[in-house]
Amino acid sequence: MNINNLFHKPVLLKEVIKNLIINKNGIYVDATFGLGGHSKAILDKLDKNGHLIAIDQDKESIKYNKIKDPRFMLVNNNFSEIKNILNKKKVSGILLDLGLSSFQIEHSNRGFSHQLNEILDMRINQESKYYAKDVINKSSRKKLFKIFREYGDFKNCKNIVDKILKNRIKNKIENTFDLKKIFFIKGSFRKKKNFFSRLFQSIRIEVNNEIGNLKKFLINSIDYILPKGRILIISYHSLEDRIIKNFFKKGILCEKIFTIYPFLSIHKKVIKPDVEELLKNPRSRSARLRVAEKNSIYK
Ligand SMILES: C[S@@+](CC[C@H](N)C(=O)[O-])C[C@H]1O[C@@H](n2cnc3c(N)ncnc32)[C@H](O)[C@@H]1O
Repeated sequence: MNINNLFHKPVLLKEVIKNLIINKNGIYVDATFGLGGHSKAILDKLDKNGHLIAIDQDKESIKYNKIKDPRFMLVNNNFSEIKNILNKKKVSGILLDLGLSSFQIEHSNRGFSHQLNEILDMRINQESKYYAKDVINKSSRKKLFKIFREYGDFKNCKNIVDKILKNRIKNKIENTFDLKKIFFIKGSFRKKKNFFSRLFQSIRIEVNNEIGNLKKFLINSIDYILPKGRILIISYHSLEDRIIKNFFKKGILCEKIFTIYPFLSIHKKVIKPDVEELLKNPRSRSARLRVAEKNSIYK
């Protein structure tokens, strides 16, 4: 693949830089490196003693890194392993830009897009043994219900689950279009697109344990951010945003309720892309940025 064709416009870039960098000589983490758009801008802003540690669990994305800078280090790992990656180091700020890069959606050949006919893979980490086709062909009825209800926010999943169960007996569902063709969605192009986006998103969340990783990261990040250091998270669907909002604004994470909040929200409202950004990058439309500061009561 020609690396010059690879492209991902970093989302909410100005807002990220303005809110993340509180000390130009600090250590920062870009926990979702992707094609390095945010990382590059962070390095441009840091002074010579500043450092950036970037993480991505996708080896292929890492392979395309073009940043060469003595202040920069790139690690192939899952951000839920932040504890092992930072190994007792505390940092001034961490950025998480969740989800996938345009490269992964359009060029990785892993079935992330319902518009391309590709194998139902959907693994961000290619070393994992759990594929999207396993979710579809091997999950129990109960598990499929949970995936579509919780991760896709489908109110009535019975129809979806019944169709999958009925069709997978006849033929294995191996590719994205095999999956699409078992559904007949009435209505506009937009309605169909929305249905398949949510269907594919829910399978991807399951394959990559995205909610589990986010929760583990949030809990562990408390110990690795300096008092008054920043945590910035860009999410692209309401399930993730709700988890982040509850943690930053109510001190609630999973079943745990913190009487002293570990992080304090900086802004009353979530930050969304402005009209200018939406025009330049329509993909940014669902992005929501939340910014919080580590409560200095926690050391
Ligand atoms: C939206 S893209 C980030 C784009 C990046 N900010 C840029 O400007 O190029 C999200 C990236 O996070 C990575 N990713 C998703 N979940 C991850 C996880 N649990 N641990 C590490 N990387 C992850 C994906 O592989 C993808 O490259």
